[in-house]
Amino acid sequence: MAIERDIVIVGGGLAGCRAALEIKRIDPDLSVALVAKTHPIRSHSVAAQGGIAAVLNNIDPDDTWEAHAFDTVKGSDYLADQDAVEILTKEAPEVILDLEHLGVLFSRLPDGRIAQRAFGGHSHKRTCYAADKTGHAILHELVCNLKRHGVEVYDEWYVLNLIVEEGEAKGLLMYRLLDGTLTSVRAKAILLATGGYGRVFNTTSNDYASTGDGLAMAAAAGIPLEDMEFVQFHPTGLYPVGVLISEAVRGEGAYLINCHGDRFMASYAPKQMELAPRDITSRAITLEIQAGRGIHPDGSCGGPFVYLDLRHLGPEMIMSRVPFCWEEAHRLVGIDAVTQPIPVRPTAHYSMGGIPVNTDGQVRQSPDSLVAGLFAAGECACVSVHGANRLGSNSLLECVVFGRRTGAAIAQYVQDRKFPRFDGRAYHTGTRQRLNQLLNQHGTRRIAQVRQALQDCMSQYCGVFRSDATMREGLNQLAQLREQYGEIWLDDRDNCWNTELIEALELGNLMIVGEIILASALNRRESRGAHSREDFPKRDDPQFLKHTLAYYSPAGIDVHSLPVAVNRFPPQERNY
Ligand code: FUM
Repeated sequence: MAIERDIVIVGGGLAGCRAALEIKRIDPDLSVALVAKTHPIRSHSVAAQGGIAAVLNNIDPDDTWEAHAFDTVKGSDYLADQDAVEILTKEAPEVILDLEHLGVLFSRLPDGRIAQRAFGGHSHKRTCYAADKTGHAILHELVCNLKRHGVEVYDEWYVLNLIVEEGEAKGLLMYRLLDGTLTSVRAKAILLATGGYGRVFNTTSNDYASTGDGLAMAAAAGIPLEDMEFVQFHPTGLYPVGVLISEAVRGEGAYLINCHGDRFMASYAPKQMELAPRDITSRAITLEIQAGRGIHPDGSCGGPFVYLDLRHLGPEMIMSRVPFCWEEAHRLVGIDAVTQPIPVRPTAHYSMGGIPVNTDGQVRQSPDSLVAGLFAAGECACVSVHGANRLGSNSLLECVVFGRRTGAAIAQYVQDRKFPRFDGRAYHTGTRQRLNQLLNQHGTRRIAQVRQALQDCMSQYCGVFRSDATMREGLNQLAQLREQYGEIWLDDRDNCWNTELIEALELGNLMIVGEIILASALNRRESRGAHSREDFPKRDDPQFLKHTLAYYSPAGIDVHSLPVAVNRFPPQERNY
């Protein structure tokens, strides 16, 4: 089957939905298809907890967009593009008010204005929230609005191929989970909004669907990925499961303590303490654990986690401000956070890198050329507002600010554009062969076995701390795992709801992403933000104040660079 739509959006999370809404607001006559491998309401954005930053001055009259921009750039270890950060922070208040007008149920101050809380690395209380279910509150309203505006939703369709020919994106090929139908979509513009890749690691706050599909698809189509070495490890993953215990808990005043009962952040970030940026806090927890000051389940020293202690906040504050975190700890590890501290340790959480885009969301092929017809937004994109380390509550903001901007840019872009031409039949045949090969190969390996080995490899060799030796070992092991991928065996060879086939395809994507992360990290011989090298412990601006652009091919990865936009805040030493 083949269809034509003016615009096709891949991904049903916050960035994709916000872009779709903007396109339809600007030109209701444009045909917009949104394709997602789950129902949009189940996109990972729904799991975002702590909030969305914007200078509304509801708590703090002295806050300014310049202060928000400075905090973001300092948090990024000076790698963020400052022109993009200016857009992010200046447009923040209006996107929040727009969400409010759409009906998003933000938490309130007693006088009815939107409440704002403290968050790590922010110098003022500027994070708006809906208790600790902020992503849920925003995504639900946006998805309702898709229907209202006539966006056509293809949910539970999996995109297999991005069709790029001679520097122009022309369409894609998608697979219907229900019955295995392959359909090609020809479009004047394609927006990738497929989210992150947390499942590359063995401990992550991300859902099972965060397998880097859009990143791998773009890389396989010859598009570079930017700054993939910068993986955010959130300090407070619930031990041992890895799910998120929101930074909002520390924003409301919780402590991090080691096995001696010490608030150890005093040794790492004496001014900001528990509200230091995530890269610093995750390193601090890891170092405490490595030094034997972590905690065992019986409370003794030398164990694999530290405590997040909320008890002094009291039941009223816990249950009204962070009820979901209380519930998670209770349901998953049997802890009542009103009376017991929560065991936590760092968990893979967010990708600072992604598909390189300009500030209108159009994808870059190189430092000075763009891909015709291709856009990206949200976590899969790198615009780059987060640089080497993202501040909490800036990612939902990025999704709505750059979702809106990219939607507006696309609505304009397609006005004079004709439908591109490509040989759909050849793509159908090639893709069907790829699927048949997976379905029919007679191997001995199980998907789960190879995936676990990949996740363990990435966590061990490219985690919070890295070195030349660990990353080379990671790349060696990955090469072996690629061979094992050719030996996986699927029990389900049918076309009806074949989730095993999807898992096999996702695993292929995770492997591409993992290799690009390792190759990019190996190339950056300095420590900056979340990229912390034991063999190069200092930031090296003369050599590495630049973005990484990694071009993937099955034969290997070519690493190039892209300049950083520094127009307001010159790099300084980063103290908290
Ligand atoms: O901790 C959190 O609630 C996460 C927020 C974020 O990643 O922005």
